[in-house]
Amino acid sequence: MKQLDITTKVDVLAYDELSASEAILTSLAREATERSYAPYSHFRVGAAIALDNGETVTGANQENVAYPSGTCAERSACYYAHARYPEARFKAIAVAARGTDGEFVADPVAPCGACRQALLEYEILAGAPVEVLLCGRDKVYRLPSVASTLPLAFTEF
Ligand code: THU
Repeated sequence: MKQLDITTKVDVLAYDELSASEAILTSLAREATERSYAPYSHFRVGAAIALDNGETVTGANQENVAYPSGTCAERSACYYAHARYPEARFKAIAVAARGTDGEFVADPVAPCGACRQALLEYEILAGAPVEVLLCGRDKVYRLPSVASTLPLAFTEF
C-alpha cells in the first residue's frame, strides 16, 4: 500500500503584516459584508476578487425564502466577476464574515465545498494560483491557492 500525504500550508497573519494589495482586498471583503442579504441566517459574508485587469469585484451572500435558492458570497463574487469581465483572470480572493451579533467573526471563515469547487474553475482558467485570504477579526489566514483549499478536487474528465 502507498499513501498520499496531502498538506495545506496556511499563513496566519496580523492585518498589519499584509501587503498593500492584500490589505485593500481584505478591507473590500469586510466592507462587502454590509451588502449581504441574510434575513434568515443573519450571517453576513463578503468576498472580494482581484482581477488581472486591475478591477476588483465584490459579492455578498444573497439568501432566499426558498433556502437552497440563495447563494454564498464567494459564488456571488466569482460568477459576477466572470460575467462582468470574461477576459480577466482571477489573482486573489478575500472572504470576511460577521456573525449574528454583527461583529466580525474571531476565526476566519472558509468557503463551503461548493464555493471551493466554483472558485477552482476560475483558478484553472487563470492558469496560475489564486491567493486566498480568509479574514478573522484580528488575523488573516493566507492560502497559496484555491486548489490548496480543495484537495482531491474534481477536475475535467
Ligand atoms: N455563506 C457564505 O456566503 N459563504 C461561506 O463560505 C459559508 C456560508 C453564507 C450562506 C448563508 O447565506 C449564510 O452564510 C449562512 O450559512
